[in-house]
Amino acid sequence: MKKITNICCIGAGYVGGPTMAVIAQKCPEIKVTVVDINSQRIADWNSTDFNKLPIYEPGLKEVVAEARGRNLFFSTEIEKAIEEAEMIFISVNTPTKTYGKGKGMAADLKYIELCARQIAKVAKTDKIVVEKSTLPVRTAETLRSILDNTGNGVKFQILSNPEFLAEGTAIDDLHNADRVLIGGEQSADGQNAMEALTEIYAHWLPKERILQTNVWSSELSKLTANAFLAQRVSSINSLSALCEKTEANIEELSKAIGADSRIGPKFLKASVGFGGSCFQKDILNLVYICQSLGLQEVADYWEQVIIMNDYQKRRFADNIINSLFNTVSGKKIAFLGWAFKKDTNDTRETAAMYVADILMSDMAQIAVYDPKVRPEKMFADVEYLNSRSIDENKKLLFPKNDPYVACKDAHAIAILTEWDEFKTYDWKRIYDNMMKPAFIFDGRNILDHKKLIEIGFNLKAIGK
Ligand code: UDX
Ligand code: ADP
Repeated sequence: MKKITNICCIGAGYVGGPTMAVIAQKCPEIKVTVVDINSQRIADWNSTDFNKLPIYEPGLKEVVAEARGRNLFFSTEIEKAIEEAEMIFISVNTPTKTYGKGKGMAADLKYIELCARQIAKVAKTDKIVVEKSTLPVRTAETLRSILDNTGNGVKFQILSNPEFLAEGTAIDDLHNADRVLIGGEQSADGQNAMEALTEIYAHWLPKERILQTNVWSSELSKLTANAFLAQRVSSINSLSALCEKTEANIEELSKAIGADSRIGPKFLKASVGFGGSCFQKDILNLVYICQSLGLQEVADYWEQVIIMNDYQKRRFADNIINSLFNTVSGKKIAFLGWAFKKDTNDTRETAAMYVADILMSDMAQIAVYDPKVRPEKMFADVEYLNSRSIDENKKLLFPKNDPYVACKDAHAIAILTEWDEFKTYDWKRIYDNMMKPAFIFDGRNILDHKKLIEIGFNLKAIGK
């Protein structure tokens, strides 16, 4: 087996950036070049000010500081990097299709296809191509048919190596992965390619955690692992609605259920709804595959996880409107948190934008504070969801860089992200500066509810 000395990664996003930074950190003898068509993104990755990296992840800047310039490079010279590399990771985005066949369900593979065509055009030596992006099952076959039919007689091996890192804990997840999955062709060449990639991860992970499977199993494992995790969140969220109508308390319920070692305590935290780039997209993909294969009952089963999540977001927004005497028109509502979870600046599919959109449709004035999300991103998110003009949105959405300013004169506060700093605020001071009665909707159940009630807040929490 040939040892890999040169890696290229196409796509410098939330997956490609941190993953390659850790590979470069742990494998100093391998040259790792991350390329992207977005030159601003590459410039940000190369910024001398590490606070300007395009992605916020705890521990990321330290890893980049260690490896960048030594064996980690960020570049826009895509063709050069492809040509020089022995192994090419594809980490481009695969959003849900917004048009045509499979609209709203299937993954849009146009970026992946473009990458495959570019690799086929440029490659002069044999390459191992690794699909890293979250992809629908059978993408490896698509890649293979493009590479084999348009290449220059060069041999390609295609591996599936799905990413299991979660944002906010990406570096730790990469350093201490529960498992790494490598799917490859069941042939001698396929085996060699899998060994070459195994060798890279074995620089820091025990070999027994590196699982080799066939390509299909690897691709499907990624979709279904996310579907299982999302299903747990929807399960507990469905029960939060029941708890709100009864004397049961969702935290007590969650603790009791999770204490069963067969179930386990993780991913049982009731919330305003899951977000992020993977859960919804992966389930929609799974549903689409099942439908395409005539497995309607299986498709319906998994689709319910999404239906429940949409219900939870809507329910949260409705609860705000109902509590504020059935009208939020002209009322200021403060949002604390916009990111889809804490410790990330990512807002893809964040519950906050859906809740904001519903309230904005009722003419509420939303003042948002998030420690890491930039105002432009917030506007882009609501613009993506609704048909209002930018000017109309600017009359309804007001990003603030100080939480106390965001909450001043508000009728209600909604907690959308579980940022730790929210727990340290002077809640008495916030209460004193609000309109009365002052409501707080804890969409993450992170605050001290007893204390808030003592201060005088009218509190509504999830599942309580
Ligand atoms: C997920 C998978 O965890 C990861 O393995 C995969 O590689 C990518 O997709 P990510 O989307 O980054 O990772 O974050 P995750 O921690 O899974 O959270 C997803 C959403 O579920 C967040 O909005 C989070 O707030 C929500 N969530 C999670 C809950 O509401 N309750 C929980 O108990 C857990
Ligand atoms: P993910 O969460 O999957 O990493 P991101 O959107 O954060 O998704 O990152 C994907 C990156 O891939 C983006 O920076 C985008 O510019 C880049 N990209 C998409 N298509 C190509 C391509 N053909 N060549 C190079 N980079 C690409």
